[in-house]
Amino acid sequence: MDELKALVTGAAGFIGSHLVDRLLKEGWSVLGVDNLSEGRLENLAHLNGNERLAFRKLDLRDAAVVNEALPGVDAVFHLAAHANIRTSLVDHRADLEHNLIATLNLLEAMARERVRDLVFASTSAIYGEATLKPTPESYMPVQTSLYGASKLASEAYMQAFSQFSEISSWSFRFSNVVGERMRRGVIHDFVRKLHENPRELEILGDGKQSKEYIYVSDCVEAILTGYTKAKERVNAFNIAVEDNLTVDEVADIVISEMGLSGVRRKYTGGPRGWIGDNPVVHLSIEKLKALGWRPRVRARDAVAITARWAMAHGAGGE
Ligand SMILES: NC(=O)c1ccc[n+]([C@@H]2O[C@H](COP(=O)([O-])OP(=O)(O)OC[C@H]3O[C@@H](n4cnc5c(N)ncnc54)[C@H](O)[C@@H]3O)[C@@H](O)[C@H]2O)c1
Repeated sequence: MDELKALVTGAAGFIGSHLVDRLLKEGWSVLGVDNLSEGRLENLAHLNGNERLAFRKLDLRDAAVVNEALPGVDAVFHLAAHANIRTSLVDHRADLEHNLIATLNLLEAMARERVRDLVFASTSAIYGEATLKPTPESYMPVQTSLYGASKLASEAYMQAFSQFSEISSWSFRFSNVVGERMRRGVIHDFVRKLHENPRELEILGDGKQSKEYIYVSDCVEAILTGYTKAKERVNAFNIAVEDNLTVDEVADIVISEMGLSGVRRKYTGGPRGWIGDNPVVHLSIEKLKALGWRPRVRARDAVAITARWAMAHGAGGE
């Protein structure tokens, strides 16, 4: 069989770079693209010299350059996104342009080039403050962030495209993904703040927000399981763990990993860390488990690994 070729968007980002590692291991050739707004080439530096990997700096908002990336591609793994819920409170167009328009540009180019498979990084944020927990894929949500809204709209565009093109789609709704190369989010923030002041830690909200922290290699494994085993034209899967952690528990783990004690906690108060922060995220993962996937790393171990990586890679010290 000929070598399969993947286009990975957001390839220089946190999860994208891990997916590139895995696809190369599976024998794919990969064209990675990224506008390097958040992504870093150092996330791919360990792959320098790998003849099956090519990288192109491009911005998916530009339909013409997206068209140029598609010829010869067998599957698109679309991970590029504007993924900052807080900045979109002031910049209302960022999610629309980097997420929805970028996805539309890919869909149009794929339809034209007859590339059939689109694997999409969606998010648990699309469920808003879900009233049903564990939340199944069929839940009809109300949106609480422009980020979630743009991801749900992207999923909807993929569904509609499958009606008039050959495109099939696999949307994976990730909970909090953590691990090596992650440079933002609560763990990174705690390490940075404690590096600056080891006596006091500011916690956004009341510390009781409860989320599911999944290790990045479990997330990548879940993506490949769903993609290779599910065969509908439109597929959607939650990716999460079954052991939730509160923000206070995440703080306990980070404080312990940093070898600190007696840290005072200063809460900003309220059930949410910021507008659009959904206080309790608890997804059903039964659908993916039925295909044989299981998360291997416990949430508290994933958080500890991430804290150690952040400490070793200069969170707050850069
Ligand atoms: N990390 C998580 O916990 C999490 C949770 C749910 C969903 N997701 C989704 O997973 C995907 C990867 O997330 P991540 O944590 O690796 O984030 P990341 O910021 O590290 O990766 C996203 C990449 O997309 C690139 N990018 C942004 N806009 C672009 C554009 N217009 N054109 C080309 N490249 C562009 C950025 O430079 C970055 O490298 C995103 O789609 C995100 O929404 C992440």
